[in-house]
Amino acid sequence: MADKKAQLIIEGAAPVELPILTGTVGPDVIDVRGLGASGHFTFDPGFMATASCESKITYIDGDKGVLLHRGYPIEQLAEQSDYLETCYLLLNGELPNEEQKAKFVSNVKNHTMVHEQLKTFFNGFRRDAHPMAVMCGVVGALSAFYHDSLDINNPQHREISAVRLVAKMPTLAAMVYKYSMGQPMMYPRNDLTYAENFLHMMFNTPCEIKPISPVLAKAMDRIFILHADHEQNASTSTVRLAGSSGANPFACIAAGIAALWGPAHGGANEAVLTMLDEIGDVSNIDTYIAKAKDKNDPFKLMGFGHRVYKNRDPRATVMKQTCDEVLAELGIKNDPQLQLAMRLEEIALTDPYFIERSLYPNVDFYSGIILKAIGIPTSMFTVIFALARTVGWISHWKEMLSSPYKIGRPRQLYTGEQQRDITALKDRK
Ligand code: SDX
Repeated sequence: MADKKAQLIIEGAAPVELPILTGTVGPDVIDVRGLGASGHFTFDPGFMATASCESKITYIDGDKGVLLHRGYPIEQLAEQSDYLETCYLLLNGELPNEEQKAKFVSNVKNHTMVHEQLKTFFNGFRRDAHPMAVMCGVVGALSAFYHDSLDINNPQHREISAVRLVAKMPTLAAMVYKYSMGQPMMYPRNDLTYAENFLHMMFNTPCEIKPISPVLAKAMDRIFILHADHEQNASTSTVRLAGSSGANPFACIAAGIAALWGPAHGGANEAVLTMLDEIGDVSNIDTYIAKAKDKNDPFKLMGFGHRVYKNRDPRATVMKQTCDEVLAELGIKNDPQLQLAMRLEEIALTDPYFIERSLYPNVDFYSGIILKAIGIPTSMFTVIFALARTVGWISHWKEMLSSPYKIGRPRQLYTGEQQRDITALKDRK
């Protein structure tokens, strides 16, 4: 992979030759692992130009708006596959055949329940706790129940942990919602599909088991697919970093959930709906566009912009199509928030500020409108994102642990005080 070289000329020092590595597709990388010998570090806060690892899972071409999972375009997976197939693909590298799929689906189904004692963890939270706070807690607590399979160097333990996490996230997410509502928690059912089961656990009660709308289940499954993985984003990088210390998979996923919560990342889907509520009416859009452009105003247009996509986020396009399908199926015409969102997109995309900075709607811009139409409260939106992204996180965790790796330990540019001696308290000014 290294047949090209870069030469670094450093004033007053011998030139440094660095290998250039080439991947299957995408930018080459300059391998700076040997730079330490020159007495220099690279400096790249926010990792704007840094490849943190080698991976075979997901490829994003930000300029062309391309997203591939193990080589398959997200549009094809969203249209022709389903979430559990996509999970199998991300975890194993290939789409399953019929026998493999049946075995995987059955395996997941048989791990959807959680230990009965896990229910007691919820009672420590206020009913109005943010659902992401509860998810961080209960997912991390899972590691207290699986002492039989926490050896990260054991491939079988890694495999069963991956299946347990994919299987239990919908159950835990629904438990978090039911707890916030003061309703009884619902057990998973093995006669339902993954998405149907989630909607069943969310919206059914022991008093009444309503059939799940196939349209809503399909929309839910597609939302899961669109959020499944996205290369080395902030939360996935967090999971990899936590995993590199040897932390157990449940703790690593809890760390990923914490990182995803931020409004600049997975918290944006909740923030979009809050923003649309705050804008309120099309007549206020120009005021908020001006706020978004004002450097002295911290307000950003939530659901717009992306570190990698400098063209349309392909997931946003599929999400918008799904949004139209769900609202039509539910007979929701002229949904005011959808109308407002579409008008906001139109205006923003004609404004030079947004055009110059390639700020397009991202995956979070339309997802909240669908989730709200399905009946999911805004505070649960990022929990849904975490549920769906768990397979991406655990795929990257597995990939890292399946070949030689080192603990992640970045260095820094130190600009603090030179060494100095302590002054006795009585003598300090
Ligand atoms: C996700 O990484 C992933 O892959 C994440 C994700 C995934 O699947 O894991 O895709 C999921 O997190 C999607 C992004 C969701 N976040 C939001 O919608 C929040 C709003 N977006 C911004 O916070 C921002 O666009 C980021 C965080 C998404 C990207 O930030 P960058 O790459 O650090 O870019 P930047 O902040 O340096 O912005 C470049 C310029 C700046 O202006 P200048 O300093 O050049 O004048 O664009 C401006 C920014 O001020 N800008 C915005 C803006 N986003 C960027 N201005 C107004 N509104 C915005 N939304």
